Amino acid sequence: RPGLRMAPLWPCVLVAATGILAADPPPLGDPTLLHLTKHLLQQYHKEVRPVHNWVEPTTVYLDLIVHAVLDVDVQNQKLKTSVWYREVWYDEFLAWNSSLFDEIREISLPLSAIWAPDIIINEFVETERSPDLSYVYVNSSGTIKNSKPIQVVSACSLQTYAFPFDIQNCSLTFSSILHTVEDVDLRFLRNREDIKRDKKAFLNDNEWELLSVTPVYNILQNSAGDFAQIQFNMVIRRRPLAYVVSLLIPSIFLMLIDLGSFYLPANCRARIVFKTSVLVGYTVFRVNMANEVPRSTGSTSLIGVFFTVCMAFLVLSLSKSILLIRFLHNEQCSGWEQPLLCLQKDSDADGPGVDPGTWCAGITESSVYQEHQAQPETLKEVWFQLRSINTHLQTQDQVEQQGVQWLALLYRFDQLLFRSYLLVLGLYAVTLCSLWVLWSGS
Ligand SMILES: *[C@@H]1O[C@H](CO)[C@@H](O)[C@H](O)[C@H]1NC(C)=O
Ligand SMILES: *[C@@H]1O[C@H](CO)[C@@H](O)[C@H](O)[C@H]1NC(C)=O
Ligand SMILES: *[C@@H]1O[C@H](CO)[C@@H](O)[C@H](O)[C@H]1NC(C)=O
Repeated sequence: RPGLRMAPLWPCVLVAATGILAADPPPLGDPTLLHLTKHLLQQYHKEVRPVHNWVEPTTVYLDLIVHAVLDVDVQNQKLKTSVWYREVWYDEFLAWNSSLFDEIREISLPLSAIWAPDIIINEFVETERSPDLSYVYVNSSGTIKNSKPIQVVSACSLQTYAFPFDIQNCSLTFSSILHTVEDVDLRFLRNREDIKRDKKAFLNDNEWELLSVTPVYNILQNSAGDFAQIQFNMVIRRRPLAYVVSLLIPSIFLMLIDLGSFYLPANCRARIVFKTSVLVGYTVFRVNMANEVPRSTGSTSLIGVFFTVCMAFLVLSLSKSILLIRFLHNEQCSGWEQPLLCLQKDSDADGPGVDPGTWCAGITESSVYQEHQAQPETLKEVWFQLRSINTHLQTQDQVEQQGVQWLALLYRFDQLLFRSYLLVLGLYAVTLCSLWVLWSGS
């Protein structure tokens, strides 16, 4: 019974089934793309340099856009930059007739499936950190475009003598690690002038300013053969304002204060206290700023030399002040009355030398006179005493005169130091100005 009822439906079921089987399959994704990729890669050998005639070199066109200067490590002579790198070459085996493939003009292919030039940056010191972009674009005439952002940590000879007005010239050299110029040649993708002046992509609110990126092509000849290489010379310039405010101006102020200490009288003990405070202040300043001034083993910055010279001057003038006070103290013990002398005319030191002597002699003479009245027999003894006192006073006078000569010497040294201070400050100012002029002229 059920079979009989179903019987009129059979034709319909059959029609439907044949309809499904006979209909074209709906377009799955993009079969032409798949077809094309298969067509391109099935016969492809990525081990072989893609040329029909092996004598012809494969020409790789390079381009570089500097994006940012991330770090300048003077101590380790390393420069970290972020660059956008592009390379374009022609693969004779990856060309197709676009009218046979739905007018597809460009497809992406995995980089691992095709031949790619082995171009590296010679100055690399750390493993390259770049996002793993594993696809390249290929167009119907076989031109392959590969571009990627790279963080380059490169070795660079960084000069610090002009810090903070320094200009650095670092280069990135691209060349094939294995292929000689007969196999892989290099060219510029853009006009050289365009590459040189292109700063649009550069992040400018940094400590460093990009001046130019000069591309140079040359052929490196060595025992293994001739290698084509392309060098991009990046010239960057530091923005010094922050360092001028935090480093140069305070150091100049400290030196000026120290210079002011010369207006205190040289024999004044307060000067030692003052100079010591300046020395302490200077040390604190230097310790604070130790991380700001770049240190390299190869070259020293002029500022560092200046700081050291200033420190040496401070120590020198402090030791001179201590010596001076010590001499004055000696004389006090040997009978001087004033605790702090005013030694305006110490070079011809007869005046102050005579006074205490006669005063002392006066006392002894009067006492001796009284003794003489009491015991006239001991006149001879008294005379001997007088003689010995006289010689003692004379030797003391000589010692004092020696001391006074030393003092005079120290005073002259003081004047010399003052002039040297002025000279050093002047030199420093001139150097800074000329560095600044050189900096702004570049
Ligand atoms: C591409 O294919 C079309 C159609 O077969 C043909 O007419 C044309 O000449 C081909 N072009 C090239 C460059 O081979
Ligand atoms: C493929 O790209 C190269 C370089 O950009 C260009 O010269 C060439 O005309 C392109 N070919 C086609 C078919 O678009
Ligand atoms: C940078 O250095 C290269 C050599 O390493 C030199 O050819 C180039 O002239 C230098 N550029 C500047 C602006 O000093």
